[in-house]
Amino acid sequence: MPARKPKAPTNRAQALCRLDDLTPGTVLRVEAPLGGETREFLVLRRGEADGLGDDVVIFPNACPHIFINLDLYDGWFMTQDGQRLLCGQHWAEFRLPDGLCVAGPCVGRSLEPIPAVIEDGAVYLGDFEPQRITWPTRIIRFPLIPPKRSNP
Ligand code: FES
Repeated sequence: MPARKPKAPTNRAQALCRLDDLTPGTVLRVEAPLGGETREFLVLRRGEADGLGDDVVIFPNACPHIFINLDLYDGWFMTQDGQRLLCGQHWAEFRLPDGLCVAGPCVGRSLEPIPAVIEDGAVYLGDFEPQRITWPTRIIRFPLIPPKRSNP
């Protein structure tokens, strides 16, 4: 009898978050183990529809410009109009939901969208090829300081 092949690793071993954790129009940064490393992912819930797998989009937190995290300032991921993902390192803007860079220094390159799987109200990574992504080797992030209010 031939030796049994080890079971293929699955991307769905651990939930990234609960669907209820996601506020439409905002980005949740989450960490998950992947291939012996801890990786950061950006999870977005788009629109108002509940429970639809295609309503949730996941991207690696890895800008295709110089392969570093997008959030130079902690938690700042979106353009002011909330329509595009933003890289705060050099101001690249990424179209939703496909992650294509449409402004900034890496126009034409793309964040790799990762399919989301929703099961029992939890969000999991769908099948994707992690080796296709150039992951950041370091994270550069500063606290987000809210703008000062001027007195009237
Ligand atoms: S690292 Fe993202 S625009 Fe340069």
